Amino acid sequence: MLKIAVCVSGGGTNLQAIIDRIADGSIENTRIVRVISNKDKAYALERAKAAGIDAVAVTRTAYPEKADFNAALLKAIDEAEPDLVVLAGFLVVLDPEIIRKYKGRIINIHPSLIPSFCGAGMYGLKVHEAALARGVKVTGATVHFVDEGTDTGPIIMQKAVNVEDGDTAEILQKRVMEQAEWKILPAVIDGIAKGKITLG
Ligand code: GRF
Repeated sequence: MLKIAVCVSGGGTNLQAIIDRIADGSIENTRIVRVISNKDKAYALERAKAAGIDAVAVTRTAYPEKADFNAALLKAIDEAEPDLVVLAGFLVVLDPEIIRKYKGRIINIHPSLIPSFCGAGMYGLKVHEAALARGVKVTGATVHFVDEGTDTGPIIMQKAVNVEDGDTAEILQKRVMEQAEWKILPAVIDGIAKGKITLG
C-alpha cells in the first residue's frame, strides 16, 4: 500500500482528482494518509474532511518565524509516515531540509509544459497569462520530482492541451486542469503504486 501525504494551499481540485481516482479504482493500492495545508481556510481541507482523510493546517500565522513553520511542516509530514509527498497546488517553497529528507519521494504538478512558463513566481493564473501573452498554440501540465530548485526536478509525465482562439487565462486554466492536471497526477501516483515509476 502506497501511503501518500498531499500538500495543498487552495481549492484542492487536484486533491479531489486523487480522492476520486482512488475511489473508482483507477489508482490502485494507495491511501492518502494526511492532507496538509498552509492555509487554514483552504477548501482543500473541506474536501479531505468530506472524504474522511486526516487534514491539518500549518500556517505562517501560527508559526511567524520561518524556521518554526518549516519545523512544524516537517513534523506534520513525518507524523503521517508517507512513502510519497504530493504537492497539489501547494504554494510554499519547501525548505531544503524537507527536500533532503524526502528526496526522490516528492512530486509536484505544474500547469505548463516545463521548461516553459515555470520557475519563481510562476503559479496559478500567472502561468496561463504568460502562455497567452507568448502566443503559444499548445500548453499543458507537468508532473515532476521536486528538488531544491523551483520546478527544476526530473520530469515524470506531461500532457499537452490546445490553446483555443479567445481563451482567457481562466478558461485556459480550467481546460489544463480538466484535460491534463487531473489526469496525469493520478496516473503518476498509480504508476508509482504499481512500481512502474520508480522513486528517485
Ligand atoms: C492549479 O493551477 C494547479 O495547476 C496548481 O495550483 C492550482 C490550484 O490547484 N498547481 P488545486 O485546485 O488547489 O488543486
